[in-house]
Amino acid sequence: MEYQYIIKGGEPLHGEVTISGAKNAALGILAAAIMTDDTVTIDNLPDVRDINVMLSAIESIGATVKRLGPHSVQINGSTITDLTIDYDSIRKIRASYYLLGALLGKYKKATVALPGGCDIGSRPIDQHIKGFRALGATVNIEYGMIDTYSDQLTGNHIYLDMVSVGATINIMLASCMAEGRTVIENAAKEPHIVDVANFLNSMGADIKGAGTDKIRINGVSTLHGSEYAIIPDQIEAGTFMIAAAATRGNVLINNVIPKHLEAISVKLIEIGATVEEFDDAVRVCATGRLGHTQIKTLPYPGFPTDMQPQIATLLALSEGTSTVTESIFENRFRYVDELARMGANIKVEGNVAIIEGVAGFTGAAISAPDLRAGAALVVAAMVADGYTTVDSIEYIERGYENFETKMAGLGARMAKIPVDNEKELQKFKLKIG
Ligand code: EPZ
Repeated sequence: MEYQYIIKGGEPLHGEVTISGAKNAALGILAAAIMTDDTVTIDNLPDVRDINVMLSAIESIGATVKRLGPHSVQINGSTITDLTIDYDSIRKIRASYYLLGALLGKYKKATVALPGGCDIGSRPIDQHIKGFRALGATVNIEYGMIDTYSDQLTGNHIYLDMVSVGATINIMLASCMAEGRTVIENAAKEPHIVDVANFLNSMGADIKGAGTDKIRINGVSTLHGSEYAIIPDQIEAGTFMIAAAATRGNVLINNVIPKHLEAISVKLIEIGATVEEFDDAVRVCATGRLGHTQIKTLPYPGFPTDMQPQIATLLALSEGTSTVTESIFENRFRYVDELARMGANIKVEGNVAIIEGVAGFTGAAISAPDLRAGAALVVAAMVADGYTTVDSIEYIERGYENFETKMAGLGARMAKIPVDNEKELQKFKLKIG
């Protein structure tokens, strides 16, 4: 059955929310987990659609996957029989291409469907392939598949032409059991890169420098079992920070690493919100209308592209003219037309959105164009006058765990109901008065 969110705006968010494990770290970690024949236990796994698809992809090649609970899984890679990841998995989730690096690293052979573009832009993987070739692998692309194999992988010096999260993780996976030393220069520095490296190290890998732009990997002959807890999700936390500020609420966001949120905190403070940092929590509150600013998305520690639609939504309600420049993905302004239907005044010129702040939004029937844009539209709906329905929430559920429950826990008037179900719609309206 297809579902939608129904939201009645106007309620400031109050209270506490707990952030789940980082989806994008988990995707790399699940792929890495198959690289040992021992059992690996992973905790703080977010219970979101992308993770469940990745677990199915891992099961489909023969690995043993045992769910210990919604946030905990045991994986054993000794039962793998198939080294092919088909287009069906890749189509559902691009990051299943991490199994290319993991299988190549472990078995020196892998065949994975070539991912196409996606909702946020054309997404080449030339840097991943360049890395595998530098390690001595043969890589052929034919019949829509990437086929890669090698008698022996040997460490090498790899300079990435652009900072890529995916290529950095895939090369770490492929090289951690290669002969000798690999150096990745111009590596991505995102928190999830560090988490994947820490996890591999907990399995016996020797990776140093993750979190800087130069990662050094000394190949080890084998990896062993491990028990590991994934870091909190920086983007889920950031989304709740924006929601708190946009609704002029006061929210304590628990289970975060405040350092990972700095780019977002700094911008919120600059436009007039209050952000208080604790050891593993942040409190965000805002009282009046916020101010304008300039944002440019950049690789970590810059402002994350995955927070671009959310901050643009907030700025669309703030005073004055703001600009938001998207420098990572070319197709990440597809939510602007939906926001315009709610009353936003945003003009997109190339990769820059010029935002004239308006005093308020009004509810409308809208549709989520992708994961982060979908979350941004939910925030817009929570501020809008009247009712908003958000369709295509399967995008949002790819990366946000129990989004409607967590929001409702903060006082948002939001529910998940079947699409086109007048009875459920009326029930919601009656319930919230
Ligand atoms: C990761 O995507 C995230 N996905 C994305 O999160 C995130 O938006 C992105 O990093 C940027 O932070 C996962 O971690 C699973 P990149 P990834 O390789 O690895 C270009 C979300 O909402 N490039 O860092 O695919 C590329 O086109 C998602 O959770 C090449 O040209 O991103 C882009 O312009 C969506 N060649 C830039 O580099 C390559 O070989 C950065 O991409 C690789 C990348």
